[in-house]
Amino acid sequence: MEDIVKIAILMRRRAFAPYSNYRVGAAVKTKTGEIIGGCNIESSSYGLTCCAERVAIYNAISKGFNQFNSIAVSTKNAGYPCGACRQVIWELCEDIIIYICNSKTLVKELKSSDLLPNPFNKSFLK
Ligand code: THU
Repeated sequence: MEDIVKIAILMRRRAFAPYSNYRVGAAVKTKTGEIIGGCNIESSSYGLTCCAERVAIYNAISKGFNQFNSIAVSTKNAGYPCGACRQVIWELCEDIIIYICNSKTLVKELKSSDLLPNPFNKSFLK
């Protein structure tokens, strides 16, 4: 199994999800090979919750990395990234590999462009 998949699976243990009980782990791999994790962190005001994918990406960016080649997401039932995370993955990571995993293993591999066709991006702001 790829290290990024193993780390996403392990990161589920760090999830703070007392409201949904839906634990999510994620990991991003930089172009230079570092793997940085994240987990979902919920709020009692619900809307402030941050998904595991965004926590992983923001964690990596805050550590000084900004070029990525893949992201892995682990849930109990191989769930897909939400719409907000699809937009953030596209904007901050570009067209990378996305590993969809359950709590034990890789289930599906796809790309950002499979999940977000015709994306909004900075070119529309010119
Ligand atoms: N969640 C993620 O962490 N990633 C997603 O892409 C979908 C949803 C989290 C948010 C919330 O803590 C829980 O899963 C249930 O929606």
